[in-house]
Amino acid sequence: MKTDLYYTLAWSPLFERLVDFASDFIDSGVVNALAKTYNEGHVIQTRFLHSYLPEDLQNFFGLQVEHLQIFGAQPGALGRYHKDGLDRKAALNVPLRGGNKGKVDWTSYPLEEVKVANDYTRIRVNTLEDRRSDFRLDSDILDSLELTQPAVLNTDEWHRVDARDCTEYRFVASVRFLGNPSFTEICSRIG
Ligand SMILES: [Fe+2]
Repeated sequence: MKTDLYYTLAWSPLFERLVDFASDFIDSGVVNALAKTYNEGHVIQTRFLHSYLPEDLQNFFGLQVEHLQIFGAQPGALGRYHKDGLDRKAALNVPLRGGNKGKVDWTSYPLEEVKVANDYTRIRVNTLEDRRSDFRLDSDILDSLELTQPAVLNTDEWHRVDARDCTEYRFVASVRFLGNPSFTEICSRIG
């Protein structure tokens, strides 16, 4: 299924190979430690740069992988709305474990952005949730995807991870491409 925000893809041997590779690294203990540090139940657990990936996982759709990261969410976690870094317009996300009932939500609510950068990542977060940490915008959901199969996501729009209905830790592999292709550019390569 294809919308302006996501494009779900059929499972293939390559995606299954990615699951095999990434699943070896998932670790709920690391997720808990990072969640405590950042006061956020949805975290980047592990990141692999291109050169650390097996050769057969260095390209998808003819695009070179820039890095692969593993997201981990504690059961019940709700991530804040954000846009990924200015240099991360889109992602290929592949569910690894515990994903049932875990969602990505996009909102139409007008949010103001503030850029956050550290050694680890650069993202754009919204200022509204900084001011009101209890305010999580359950209204104005533009679209929502339960990630049960691989999908290209538009991360250049306000989105969040909602694992509130997850009873297990949720792990997702997320591939980012060299040259920062947009959602539309990646989709056009898939056809
Ligand atoms: Fe994101």
